[in-house]
Amino acid sequence: ATITFVEHNGSEHTVDLEVGKTLMQHALDGLVPGIDGDCGGACACGTCHVMVATSCSSDLVPPSLEEQSMLALKPEHCESSRLACQIDITEQHDGLIVQLPEFQM
Ligand code: FES
Repeated sequence: ATITFVEHNGSEHTVDLEVGKTLMQHALDGLVPGIDGDCGGACACGTCHVMVATSCSSDLVPPSLEEQSMLALKPEHCESSRLACQIDITEQHDGLIVQLPEFQM
């Protein structure tokens, strides 16, 4: 089972899915560039911003109010935006595809 991160320039990084880790942790452990995760997953920095491919968005638990307000501060925020640290990965996320914004800020 795998998860794919797509950089803004189109480079793809496929990592092995590990149940129990967050999406942010998958990116860090897979050395995916463009996910900083500065706050360590506390929904407080916004540097783990990703955009979820439309075909996958229904597999995810909707964002909490806390996540939504942090996302609203992101300049590149769009409808499919999520904070990767707030997504707990389970088997059902096999094949998940997320895109990275041009910049993390
Ligand atoms: Fe800081 Fe996700 S790692 S908000």
